[in-house]
Amino acid sequence: MEQTFLMVKPDGVQRGLIGEIVKRFEQKGFQLVGSKLMLITREQAEYHYAEHKGKDFFEMLVNFITSGPVFAMVWEGDQVIQLSRTMIGKTNALEATPGTIRGDFAVHTRLNLIHGSDSPESAEREINNFFRPEEIMKYEKNV
Ligand code: CMP
Repeated sequence: MEQTFLMVKPDGVQRGLIGEIVKRFEQKGFQLVGSKLMLITREQAEYHYAEHKGKDFFEMLVNFITSGPVFAMVWEGDQVIQLSRTMIGKTNALEATPGTIRGDFAVHTRLNLIHGSDSPESAEREINNFFRPEEIMKYEKNV
């Protein structure tokens, strides 16, 4: 079963949007298999954003993501990587359509509430960066 890494960023945590965001993925039918409120280290942040190293906003990005607690999650489901990216909406605030998380709640490209893995390779790398294997649950739906 496909898994993805999603993270409510410090702005989403501070705006009280964890519940709203979790609700959307639950209602879509995905299964939450790991989650924690955590402060991420500079090392974790630099590894997470390695593809942006050298860009003018890299330092700002790392400073922001380490500035307060994030809500890190692992979700499981059919096509969860691509579908959750659709539910999150475009990075550019001007292009995030209403109905998506960013389209409904975000005004700025930098303060865009949530991160979602963009490929199976990124998902695996990002899950391993933030979770130990024993923190990921395996459970059947029996209800
Ligand atoms: P995300 O897609 O989660 O990961 C990279 C992040 O970089 C992106 O969210 C934005 O928060 C941020 N970002 C992208 N472009 C810019 C930009 N031009 N200026 C500032 N931040 C940016």
